Amino acid sequence: MNIGILGLGTVGSGVIKIFQENNELIKKRTGEEVSIKKVLVRDPSKSRAVKVDNKLLTTDPGEILDDPDIDIVVEVIGGIDPTLDYVLRAIENKKHVVTANKEMMAKEGWRILSLAKSRGVDVYYEASVAGGIPIIRPMKESLTANRIDEIIGIINGTTNYILTKMAHEGREYADVLKEAQQLGYAEADPTSDVEGYDARYKLAILATLAFGARIDVMDIYTEGITKISKIDIKYADELGYAIKLLAIGRQRSDGLELRVHPALINKSHPLAQVNDVFNGIFIKGNAIGEIMLYGRGAGQMPTASAVVADIIDIIRNIKTGTVNRVESQYDESIPVIDMNCIVSKYYIRIRVKDRPGVMASIAKAFGDHGVSLQSIIQKDVKGEEAEIVLLTHDIMEKCVSDALVEVRLLPAVVKVENIIREIR
Ligand code: NAP
Ligand code: HSE
Repeated sequence: MNIGILGLGTVGSGVIKIFQENNELIKKRTGEEVSIKKVLVRDPSKSRAVKVDNKLLTTDPGEILDDPDIDIVVEVIGGIDPTLDYVLRAIENKKHVVTANKEMMAKEGWRILSLAKSRGVDVYYEASVAGGIPIIRPMKESLTANRIDEIIGIINGTTNYILTKMAHEGREYADVLKEAQQLGYAEADPTSDVEGYDARYKLAILATLAFGARIDVMDIYTEGITKISKIDIKYADELGYAIKLLAIGRQRSDGLELRVHPALINKSHPLAQVNDVFNGIFIKGNAIGEIMLYGRGAGQMPTASAVVADIIDIIRNIKTGTVNRVESQYDESIPVIDMNCIVSKYYIRIRVKDRPGVMASIAKAFGDHGVSLQSIIQKDVKGEEAEIVLLTHDIMEKCVSDALVEVRLLPAVVKVENIIREIR
């Protein structure tokens, strides 16, 4: 079997390392001699994280995509352009594809998978969600007996790394982000990580499989971690919570709740213990109950582990004539619930002028919109200003937004600094 690899960055180098280190094992597990025939890069003179024979490198995608001797194409470049064209061309040429590309699978997965079906080849994408954690395969195989009611995941390693270091070491956001980039966790453009887009793509992939729904990524409400400050983490801690970037998918009788945002999560919840680059995915199924998958969600070798496992699976499929197994059917008409209609507790941090009656006026504004407060605490006082942190009881998002319009107009309110949803 011959493999062509598109891309030789963090993940591509890891794939080659695994082939170098575990070659005998891979041969035993597939019964085949598996060779890497070509690797596409932009710059063949660049120094690499792995030793590769220079003769393997090419800058011409056709040397992989149009080579009849290559059976499986591994796409580890990332993004849509030119990657999607390469993947479609590989499939047209009847090559099986393994990809780690969540953006491409979330946005163009339907097109890719339907072309693969018509060409009789497999497209596997285990590494696209949660790095080294097996999650696509459990969704497609082990959990198929269940109606999945809920998925709550920490599925972006970079942001979990940043939030953990801010919480445990009191470090600054920008400094930790730089470290996550150096460790190979972040996307080529880390905006995708910190603004929540990476988690949105992954949630779209998971929700499709879990709820049997055709999801448009743009329907997923998305908020990143850039507004989370060390002070929010400290106040949340005092209230008994950790702050995590969560991807939430819930099946309700009126549709699907799909959202990615930072959330307060009780310190006793298993997801609150998922730290550093680790990811955790908490799933509720109507037969299995609750399960949680946990492991390294990014980084060279964990991600390459998922890619190489997909290659091994495809080789087995080819050998047993089981490529293109029966896929689930997907519903195009399941609505995504408007964020105004979700129900949650809310943490709200407000900077105010430190004068009598402020707390009462704020509590009244919330009360007038049906928002009842679980706690309201005055925090730091600096000069003539103070900070108020309040936690609401469960309430519909629309009521909180409406109340905040009024709160912002109160003469004593300087700024509503942050609003973070709680999740249970
Ligand atoms: P990366 O380190 O930036 O590597 C990208 C590679 O693609 C580089 O070798 C680059 O070539 C090559 N490349 C980029 N544009 C190209 C083009 N137009 N033509 C030919 N080659 C091109 O990225 P990565 O971290 O390995 O990520 C790859 C994919 O895996 C992405 O989809 C990412 O989302 C996904 N993923 C990454 C991780 C992780 O932890 N890093 C985890 C899970 C999934 P040069 O080296 O010559 O510049
Ligand atoms: N940038 C991604 C993350 C890589 O930090 O989770 C893994 O998909």
